[in-house]
Amino acid sequence: MQRTLSIIKPDGVSRNLVGEVVKRFEENGISIIAMKMLHMTKAQASGFYAVHQERPFFGSLTDFMSSGPVVVMVLEGEDVISRYRDLMGATNYKEAAPGTIRHDFATDIEKNVVHGSDSPESAAFEISYFFNAFEINA
Ligand code: RTP
Ligand code: MG
Repeated sequence: MQRTLSIIKPDGVSRNLVGEVVKRFEENGISIIAMKMLHMTKAQASGFYAVHQERPFFGSLTDFMSSGPVVVMVLEGEDVISRYRDLMGATNYKEAAPGTIRHDFATDIEKNVVHGSDSPESAAFEISYFFNAFEINA
């Protein structure tokens, strides 16, 4: 069993896509074992995306991620890191496969509805960034 962190980004929450994203997890046998809504500060978003701090889009990305509430979830399942990334689709929604969340709902390379961890190491960091052990219902 593997775990990963999912974020429904501010565009997904404000456009009422929480249920749509959750439905796709449930339909695909991915278990939600923790879930909450929160509104990050710019500093909290910068800490979360620290791996991208040298990238040209860092300032814009952290402004966006702190622009409104997000829904953060811990997902659990076999091979869930790559299975969830397959459900999300490519970062650039114009390159995302039909039927993926980003293909179906994203409006911009930045406003792409969902985040997912990209490795076991980033999943461990990202889960611990938002959840303590008591909040994870294994
Ligand atoms: P994420 O981390 O959010 O799951 O997305 P990802 O792995 O598919 O993409 P990543 O390269 O980690 O980029 C993180 C987020 O930054 C925004 N972005 N903007 N303007 C740009 O060229 C650009 N490139 C990336 C997106 O919101 C992307 O999801
Ligand atoms: Mg990423």
